[in-house]
Amino acid sequence: MTKFDINTKYRMNSGYEIPVLGYGVDSAVGYRNEETSAAGMLKSGIPRDQLFFTTKIPAGQLGYDNAQKHVDATLQKTGLDYIDLYLIHAPYGGRKGRLQAWRALADAVEAGKVRSIGVSNYGVHHLEELEEYIKETEQIEGKGKGGVLSVNQVELHPWLARKDIVDWCKERGVILEAYSPLVRATKINDPLLMPLAEKYNKTTSQILLRWSLQMGFVPLPKSVHKPRIEENVDIYDFELSEEEMKSLDTGVYEPCTWDPTTSQD
Ligand SMILES: NC(=O)c1ccc[n+]([C@@H]2O[C@H](COP(=O)([O-])OP(=O)(O)OC[C@H]3O[C@@H](n4cnc5c(N)ncnc54)[C@H](OP(=O)(O)O)[C@@H]3O)[C@@H](O)[C@H]2O)c1
Repeated sequence: MTKFDINTKYRMNSGYEIPVLGYGVDSAVGYRNEETSAAGMLKSGIPRDQLFFTTKIPAGQLGYDNAQKHVDATLQKTGLDYIDLYLIHAPYGGRKGRLQAWRALADAVEAGKVRSIGVSNYGVHHLEELEEYIKETEQIEGKGKGGVLSVNQVELHPWLARKDIVDWCKERGVILEAYSPLVRATKINDPLLMPLAEKYNKTTSQILLRWSLQMGFVPLPKSVHKPRIEENVDIYDFELSEEEMKSLDTGVYEPCTWDPTTSQD
């Protein structure tokens, strides 16, 4: 049995740890939920070092000054001393905007405002552009100065397995956060999932989350209902076989949200 439990964590390229299941909400400037998410965290009484706060620079607002402004605003709005993970929400904004925003995030790490940084909705061509920038910056300014890529958060589920992006990230130890891992609840009665759910006495949502864990992703299931939140975390007492994992390899391209990974600007 693969050794996962609710406390399992992966170590990111930054050296910090990330929980294997994004259990709770995933915030972003664009979702206008940074303040409420942080307030909920702080009110829970759980020590800060046992909580993980992620947020994102809004799509289309890249560039150095914008990114720096957003980092400072997040700290001010949330009252947190540091942000665990800051992502660029989407690659929209052109090469210069992307790389300058990245530079601002790298500087925020140096300044102790942010612990780990990453991207979201980056396709392989965006990732390669960033890797090239990091290498060039390191050659000129020294190791680590170009920033360390820890995470790429993308839509991932059996109907969108994105082998190219996944392979690129895995080769470099970049954590893949899987958003919309439940395909936005559109596959609850799917015939591909039902037999597995029956076999393991689990729900189809739990089968999808277990698939995501076994793929090595960090799934980010969202629910506002307590029983579903509990259901979504009850995925550590069974394991899909290799054959069952293969049976979920549909090979199709069916995003259920937007897909900025293909953007060419
Ligand atoms: N980076 C990005 O561009 C991006 C884009 C989209 C999403 N995300 C992030 O990814 C996270 C999740 O994605 P998502 O909300 O798009 O999709 P999701 O987690 O695949 O699906 C959420 C939907 O499934 C329902 N649900 C949750 N658990 C369930 C269960 N056990 N049984 C039946 N229905 C269940 C929820 O309803 P209830 O809430 O009513 O229970 C909600 O309607 C979000 O926190 C979001 O921040 C990121």
